[in-house]
Amino acid sequence: MSTALITGASSGIGAVYARRLAARGHDLVIVARATDRLNTVAEELRAAHGVSIEVITADLTDTASLDPVLERLRSDPPVDILVNNAGAGLLGDFATANPDEMYKLLRLNVLVPTLLASAVIGGMVERGHGSIINIASVLALLPEYSPGIYAATKSYVLTLSQSLAAEVSSKGIYVQAVLPAATRTEIYDRAGGDISQVPNVMEVDELVDAALIGFDRKELVTIPPVPEVAAWEAFEHARFALAQGFSNAEPAARYRG
Ligand SMILES: NC(=O)c1ccc[n+]([C@@H]2O[C@H](COP(=O)([O-])OP(=O)(O)OC[C@H]3O[C@@H](n4cnc5c(N)ncnc54)[C@H](OP(=O)(O)O)[C@@H]3O)[C@@H](O)[C@H]2O)c1
Repeated sequence: MSTALITGASSGIGAVYARRLAARGHDLVIVARATDRLNTVAEELRAAHGVSIEVITADLTDTASLDPVLERLRSDPPVDILVNNAGAGLLGDFATANPDEMYKLLRLNVLVPTLLASAVIGGMVERGHGSIINIASVLALLPEYSPGIYAATKSYVLTLSQSLAAEVSSKGIYVQAVLPAATRTEIYDRAGGDISQVPNVMEVDELVDAALIGFDRKELVTIPPVPEVAAWEAFEHARFALAQGFSNAEPAARYRG
């Protein structure tokens, strides 16, 4: 038996993770703001799979609400899988964005997954195992496609995942970044967008099932819609080829006067 804590489990991708991980026999801690929706998910999954489900109502952007979630990640029974999924979008461009809304988005999409990972990782290192799944976005790799700060928040999630994996994979901890493209959830409506205008939308069950195949294969980065893994491998190869040029004490010839 192991326990998974999933943020944003009241709808969309997080709710499907809750269903899939409960079906695999994991006990769950599910977190979001909408207590009624969390309770509905919890009752359904207790009845279907006989697993234990703790419900924590929390607005993760609020420090007082976040603290009990951080405390749960440090306590027993230990959390073996953290799914950093809660997140939101923000429509509009950077120049006209409301600073308060940007601050809130940065808290939810950047600060919260960082603090949650930080709270859980010490115990995972001590136990020598554990998994952290971070839900990023393909926009982490295509920021030109998305005005405003959303893509940058997801780029952070991808970079944090890569950096964490480099640090802790030798200690038995598995880190996965999942990069969904357009997926049919409430995120567009919530941000004031219109999903009917978005092409090639993936169904949320298919997205999570694909991400879990990547999880079982222990992929560091899973991009469900990309047809050929060779494309991702070529991208990584190019990145490391570029990085070979970082280790020079002198500027390149083209930058010398
Ligand atoms: N759908 C896509 O096309 C897409 C593509 C790429 C990446 N993603 C990422 O996927 C993740 C899940 O989003 P989704 O598409 O499943 O959207 P969603 O259906 O809107 O789900 C978002 C979840 O986050 C929770 N949440 C939002 N604000 C919160 C807060 N302040 N405190 C606690 N929980 C909060 C929501 O629950 P409550 O309202 O009950 O709090 C909900 O459970 C996000 O990180 C998103 O950036 C989505």
